Amino acid sequence: MCINRFLQLIVGHRRGNCKFNHPITILILSILVLVLYFLYSFHWSQKKLFQYYILDEVSNTSSKYADFEFTINEIMRCSREAPFLVMLVTSHPSESNTRHAIRSTWGGVREVYYGKEQLVGVLTLFLLGIPASMSVQAAVETESRVHKDIVQQNFVDSYRNLTLKVLMGMRWVSRYCPRAKYVLKTDSDMFVNVDLLVTSVLQPGLPPRTKYFAGHYFEATHPHRNPSSKWYLSRQHYRLDFYPPYCSGTAYTFSSDLSAKILQASQNLPLLPLEDVYIGLCLNWLGVHPLSNSLFHIKHINYSPCRYKSLVSSHGVTPDKLLLYWKGVQGAGDLHCDSVSLWLKETFCSLWACKGSSM
Ligand SMILES: *[C@@H]1O[C@H](CO)[C@@H](O)[C@H](O)[C@H]1NC(C)=O
Ligand SMILES: *[C@@H]1O[C@H](CO)[C@@H](O)[C@H](O)[C@H]1NC(C)=O
Repeated sequence: MCINRFLQLIVGHRRGNCKFNHPITILILSILVLVLYFLYSFHWSQKKLFQYYILDEVSNTSSKYADFEFTINEIMRCSREAPFLVMLVTSHPSESNTRHAIRSTWGGVREVYYGKEQLVGVLTLFLLGIPASMSVQAAVETESRVHKDIVQQNFVDSYRNLTLKVLMGMRWVSRYCPRAKYVLKTDSDMFVNVDLLVTSVLQPGLPPRTKYFAGHYFEATHPHRNPSSKWYLSRQHYRLDFYPPYCSGTAYTFSSDLSAKILQASQNLPLLPLEDVYIGLCLNWLGVHPLSNSLFHIKHINYSPCRYKSLVSSHGVTPDKLLLYWKGVQGAGDLHCDSVSLWLKETFCSLWACKGSSM
């Protein structure tokens, strides 16, 4: 064996015949081993990095999801037959109009056809905290008796408590619906194309995935350090300068096995007020990498039946728009929506502002 000559070739230091030169060989080999060791440990620390995102003082005192009590629950909704998909919608107690619009559109979808006349079931639940007003709570209880689609726990309903709401949803799925295949978590100001989500993203024809998590993906984004920001996070709460990979909380989908695992991870990770970042931390703790899916949109997409037939989620949709868009998409039937005709119509319409276009 002539390792020496090989190494001499690499370092460009040739010395005629192949003499086994011990000191140089050993030196170079040890450098190689050291480099490999550093690469390996760097990779390891990257993987585990986000466990150490909080300062010690904070981690001792900051709260965990301590299994708040259910004040409204639906323990039987899943008992007969587990649905293929559970859609969890975070909603404020006072927005009964919004819930009504969702129920009469995408939240009212009970089954989706795929393949040749095969059906899968879908279940929609609204996640609520406790409102400040007693009369709103009374109205929520009445609404719950009528529709049986509200789940509520006894924490104050506020934007900074959204993480508690999402963990409540995880708790509900893991405890009362563990045999569902997939979960969608979304907000009440969203348009969701349930058909496309089921047929083209989740694909019931495939064997069910586990440790699967997908949505609009963010990588290496930075915490907002300006206290006036909606997404403000102080250095006391989060000391790193970037976030783990995560999917926007507007809409993400995951295999239902993750709901119990995320809850378990949350026992080890102090809560953050940013729900989607926090779920990203839990996934990092579990070693699950979220996937990017271009059908999930975090902005409002200008409405057209073709565009809305070919996206899974669009943001900032008011209840009255939601009803309009839904009607339009349902009415579009098998409207020709390939990308060339879409492009032609869009170009045409941008030039001549065609009103009432069925694009
Ligand atoms: C937090 O906990 C760690 C270990 O559990 C301990 O060393 C540290 O002193 C605690 N900090 C405070 C502020 O209590
Ligand atoms: C979140 O809920 C808890 C439990 O009800 C409450 O003590 C806390 O004040 C709430 N936090 C915010 C920011 O509303």
